[in-house]
Amino acid sequence: MKTLVAYYSRKGSNRFLAEKIASALSCDIEAIRPRLNVFILFLMNIHLGNWPLKKKIGEYERIILCGPIWMGRFIPPLRSFIKKYKEMINKLVFVTCCGSTYARKDEKFGHGLVFQEVKNILGDKCILCQAFPVGLVLPDDHKEDPDAFMKTHLNDENFKGEIAGIFDAFLQKLSKSE
Ligand SMILES: Cc1cc2nc3c(=O)[nH]c(=O)nc-3n(C[C@H](O)[C@H](O)[C@H](O)COP(=O)(O)O)c2cc1C
Repeated sequence: MKTLVAYYSRKGSNRFLAEKIASALSCDIEAIRPRLNVFILFLMNIHLGNWPLKKKIGEYERIILCGPIWMGRFIPPLRSFIKKYKEMINKLVFVTCCGSTYARKDEKFGHGLVFQEVKNILGDKCILCQAFPVGLVLPDDHKEDPDAFMKTHLNDENFKGEIAGIFDAFLQKLSKSE
């Protein structure tokens, strides 16, 4: 299935994840580049959209969109991406390396609410959502510690054990959804 991984990352974890997915699938990858890449303005919901993607979205059967969650929100660069390309997207998979755990996904700052929003916007086009909470790479006593997960970024050294298993299961889900 012809696939493009499109990602936005501020601190690197979602870039790492996006590159990992693109490498596993041997598919194209492109960064989403906001016209105004100013974090504080994103948090204030001030966003001027993204630069157009170099790749042609309509040529792909599947888009894998990857990026973080901030303040329980579907962040402006990702939201703008979907808004702009909605009609051209055939199938979309949303992936996030976020702070919220699976147990707390439905709380105010949980990834579950963002997943619901993506599904509401895209309907049946959204075929899968997958979270990789960054706490998965932390020791058990720090898994839910906000200070620890804010300072932790995915990399080749820590992407092993539980998170690597979840990644393999995710790849299987992807292949089943083809
Ligand atoms: C200001 C801020 C707010 C955040 N809010 C949330 C949140 O509401 N829910 C969540 O799951 N993670 C939250 N996070 C954690 C990020 O989603 C997480 O650190 C992510 O891995 C960062 O991705 P990046 O390294 O690709 O930029 C927040 C991070 C920051 C910096």
